[in-house]
Amino acid sequence: MPRGGPDASCLDRLLQTDRLEYLDRDSDVPVDAARKRSVIRALEWTGGWFGSTERFAEIALAEVENVADPKILELGAGHGALSRTLLDWHPSARLTVTDVDAANVAAMAACDLGENPRVTVHEMDATAIDAPDASFDLAVFALSFHHLPPAAAARAISEGTRVAGKLVVIDLPRPPSPLHLVRLATMLPFVPLLPFVHDGVISSLRSYSPSALRALAAYADPAIAVELRGGLLSPQVVVAQRGAPDPLRPNGQRW
Ligand SMILES: C[S@@+](CC[C@H](N)C(=O)[O-])C[C@H]1O[C@@H](n2cnc3c(N)ncnc32)[C@H](O)[C@@H]1O
Repeated sequence: MPRGGPDASCLDRLLQTDRLEYLDRDSDVPVDAARKRSVIRALEWTGGWFGSTERFAEIALAEVENVADPKILELGAGHGALSRTLLDWHPSARLTVTDVDAANVAAMAACDLGENPRVTVHEMDATAIDAPDASFDLAVFALSFHHLPPAAAARAISEGTRVAGKLVVIDLPRPPSPLHLVRLATMLPFVPLLPFVHDGVISSLRSYSPSALRALAAYADPAIAVELRGGLLSPQVVVAQRGAPDPLRPNGQRW
């Protein structure tokens, strides 16, 4: 399935790539390991500077507002800033902070997160989560879903909704193709200079459209209900859960 979804236009189908980001490359190659660290640091810095880390924490906590001591799993945590904010803002939340990349996990375990008694840090693949069913109230996967090709992305939806009551995916929006071309054109000159922009361009080309996200959830399991929010000028948010969605959410939509 194209990243633009089953109904993607011809142009939209051209605006995608299988090229790997630095973040997806092998850490054993020293130059790639250094670039990966630089991208992770840039993500942490931009998340703090532009307020997206706090915005993502608000989105995540809103999904467990009725749970007294929520157990939260962060997948693809990268640098751990989102988990750190969740811990700061919620006095009794317990966090399992994970990433598929061993170097990222080691760095998070070596910082304040690793010393927090409410935190467990370990390596975990979002497509094969090593936890029993319903272990968590919430799983959150921020700015990472586009790293997964479609079959793996469907597995992550299936796994996230298996181990957690709700799976919140927050990711880059996929703009309409003309706007997408403009976004890419503004970034392309900086690709050779900045590893962060190199990964940003590939991320943009690998971002999923709303129709792709709906198709992936349906492929994962037709019993998974998804609510989609945001997009275009803000990150797109998917709240996925098995069974009926919360009838009290006025903006909730079920496909
Ligand atoms: C762009 S970074 C996002 C980091 C952080 N969540 C943020 O919001 O800035 C993507 C992260 O997803 C991780 N990742 C990629 N594939 C993954 C997978 N299959 N399971 C878990 N994490 C994965 C990468 O190692 C990387 O840390």
